[in-house]
Amino acid sequence: MCGIVGYVGHQKAEGILLDSLRRLEYRGYDSAGIATLSLENNLYQTEIRRAAGKLENLKVFVKKNPCPGNIGIGHTRWATHGKPTEKNAHPHQSNPITLVHNGIIENHLQLREQLLSQGLVLKSDTDTEIVAHLISAEKKNNHADFITATRAAVQQIKGAFALAILDENEPDIIICVKQSCPLIIGIGLGENFIASDFTAILPYTNQFIILEEGDMAVVKKDSILISNFYGIEQKRPIKFLDWSPSVAEKNGFAHFMLKEIFEQPVAITDTLRGRLSFAENRVVLDGVHLDKLKYINRICIVACGSSFHAGMIAKYQIEDLAKLPVELDLASEFRYRPVLVDAQTLVIGISQSGETADTLAALRHAQSKDALLLSICNTLESSIPRLCQHSAGTLYTRAGPEISVASTKAFITQIVVLQLLGLGLAQQRDQITEDNLTRQMNALLQLPTAVETVLQQDSHIQKIAQHFVSATDMLFLGRGALYPIALEGALKMKELSYVHAEGYAAGEMKHGAIALIDEQMPVIVLATRGHVYEKLVSNLEEVKTRGGRIIGILDENDDTLKSRCEFSIPIPIVTKSILAAVATVPLQLLAYHLANAKGLDVDQPRNLAKSVTVE
Ligand code: G6P
Repeated sequence: MCGIVGYVGHQKAEGILLDSLRRLEYRGYDSAGIATLSLENNLYQTEIRRAAGKLENLKVFVKKNPCPGNIGIGHTRWATHGKPTEKNAHPHQSNPITLVHNGIIENHLQLREQLLSQGLVLKSDTDTEIVAHLISAEKKNNHADFITATRAAVQQIKGAFALAILDENEPDIIICVKQSCPLIIGIGLGENFIASDFTAILPYTNQFIILEEGDMAVVKKDSILISNFYGIEQKRPIKFLDWSPSVAEKNGFAHFMLKEIFEQPVAITDTLRGRLSFAENRVVLDGVHLDKLKYINRICIVACGSSFHAGMIAKYQIEDLAKLPVELDLASEFRYRPVLVDAQTLVIGISQSGETADTLAALRHAQSKDALLLSICNTLESSIPRLCQHSAGTLYTRAGPEISVASTKAFITQIVVLQLLGLGLAQQRDQITEDNLTRQMNALLQLPTAVETVLQQDSHIQKIAQHFVSATDMLFLGRGALYPIALEGALKMKELSYVHAEGYAAGEMKHGAIALIDEQMPVIVLATRGHVYEKLVSNLEEVKTRGGRIIGILDENDDTLKSRCEFSIPIPIVTKSILAAVATVPLQLLAYHLANAKGLDVDQPRNLAKSVTVE
């Protein structure tokens, strides 16, 4: 949801800004821009380069029109206010101030009126430009210096904002401001970096300061001074991250998404590491304050997108294992309801990024009703885990950075940690036998190999995808824990291929979706053996009778059902507890290959962004 970067140091800023933006482009790609301060005839001047569309357009423009200087800021945009044109691209300027912004200024209309009444001419339709004018006005009208003017301006704005700001008259400073949007400072030697997340600047440093709510940092090449909006100094620890910069590269894969799909066995192994203690026959839920969960009597899960689907699977897992009722809400719905939660309710927020605005707000809402908070997250030190740290804590997935907008390895590792949580709660509540626990832990150990086996179907799935490039609609059917997988498969297909796809509980099909089935309709049926197998076979026959084109996701030895499908993708026979994770992989590959065959931009589907930090 917009990415921002900054650099101040001894190197040329231009290359570093563009390179860092490349790794942040997953946050938005409607337009991009950079600004630097360059010295000419003993005077600093601001150089701004902007281009509509993807970062590549900006790179081409900058190549022809270089942007000199050792200090600068940059932005990649996911449009909220104002069309994705060059005029609305960041950075925005009100001389001598230039800035980039991630978030939404909620009172921008009122501020806009105020500025217009003062005779100001606005150059863009954005909420962001207002902030540049506010700082500039403080400087001019009140003769304030850059820091004082910024402080005065941010006290007037409401909403969510991460800002990086330059002042032509104070050319050795970048001011950063953080309120409800992520912002970190990377520490170098005689140089410092600013970014919306770690991955953007990993090749340059592995030492970071994570700004907290209400922080304002004055960043120079050799110093960082952090205060709150009222000027009171704040101490923030330096964190070290041992990720390799290659985690944010494609490493020979055509797309990040394909790379991340193929990273799933390793991501699962990493996520399980140290959490299955066969010696003590227990799961280790590091980061979870289990003692606080002793007296909970229900669980509410809040999440968005793929994380919501992982939550749906968790309902099946946790209710089955721990015998605790689990409710599920879309975070965007939960946050505006007078929800009935209390100190005996555990509210779990699931979020890959840890920054999704709706999930964060839903958790805050639950916190205000005294509920216990736990997060399932992939991003260390992000806002959601920090909110939960003094409550029930965080169980991290260890998928590594996920760059592709469509979630794959983060999703599968969410399923894994939620299964661990179910086992941990079952054990704490005496709801699972020792034997069953050992069996369940062993099943999780089999998961990476089972996923590897499905990945070997890659070229087979690619061939199947070729047959459906002209499909305009698709249905995905599943039952039990495979129903959320049907929803996830449909979501992937929509996001990547722009095919209208619907996930349906197979048993519900006869109440509506069946009317859609004709000879053109591809129907993906998740029909592995289990206690509802016969029912699924009947559903598959109902589709077949109406001429639907069936792609079956089947047990590897199910030749009978295979003969009833136009295409089939065999998956290994695994225990029920890991089936959902295994069955998700062929659907990821199907969506990937179909989008790729249609020539679409798999890693950056239109209109989407990975980290949704606005409502
Ligand atoms: C966006 C992404 C999805 C993701 C959802 C929730 O819509 O495109 O891939 O599932 O946000 O994100 P979160 O970081 O909270 O899991």
